[in-house]
Amino acid sequence: MQKHLIVVAHPVEDSFTMSMTRAYLGELLRMGHDVRVHDLYRMGFNPVLSARELTEGSDVHVRMADVLIAQEDVREADVVTVIYPLWWMAMPAMMKGYIDRVFSRGFAYEIQPGGAQGLLSGRRAVVVTISGAPLASFMEDGRWQAMQLLQDTHIFRAAGFELIGHLHFDEVGPAMPPAAAANDLTRLRGFVRGHFASVPAA
Ligand SMILES: Cc1cc2nc3c(=O)[nH]c(=O)nc-3n(C[C@H](O)[C@H](O)[C@H](O)COP(=O)(O)O)c2cc1C
Repeated sequence: MQKHLIVVAHPVEDSFTMSMTRAYLGELLRMGHDVRVHDLYRMGFNPVLSARELTEGSDVHVRMADVLIAQEDVREADVVTVIYPLWWMAMPAMMKGYIDRVFSRGFAYEIQPGGAQGLLSGRRAVVVTISGAPLASFMEDGRWQAMQLLQDTHIFRAAGFELIGHLHFDEVGPAMPPAAAANDLTRLRGFVRGHFASVPAA
């Protein structure tokens, strides 16, 4: 059994993003894993990094209760999966605010003389993103590479995670054929089974 944390940001319960999240969660539970979900909108997570958090105390952020709880769940997880739609080729402000507040200095990274040092090593991460436009259009002009550099590498790898996958689902929207949505769900479930099924129960 592994400890999983899923962090998801989408305001609409019956969105594609939330249905993928439920499928991901269901697959993990079926395999007997311990899963915690931080559904940021439904939790009412406050994504605004306050002046107090930034300025009070020592050079390390003052930790608020909600941040302390969120950090404890990250610390305990073997695998952290983040799921969000691409809005302006980036994570929604809700997810960005979670990163700003939870992945704070002293928790996710430390500044060393040689540069920033990730503190969350020993954990794996998965990024799941969703877009309206085709992935090929992002790859052609460099938007995909830019997004991966800033999100996969600058955030998750820099914090010390081993990023074991970035699953992207494209051309998602109201005109999406049901067969395409079903295909995406199959791909997502296959990814979860392929990566997390082979570990013997603890
Ligand atoms: C504010 C906003 C910005 C968006 N920006 C992009 C974008 O930059 N590229 C893209 O392909 N889709 C963009 N979209 C479309 C969403 O990625 C897409 O509609 C969504 O992932 C569909 O899945 P959902 O049902 O989970 O919302 C944007 C949507 C919103 C609401």
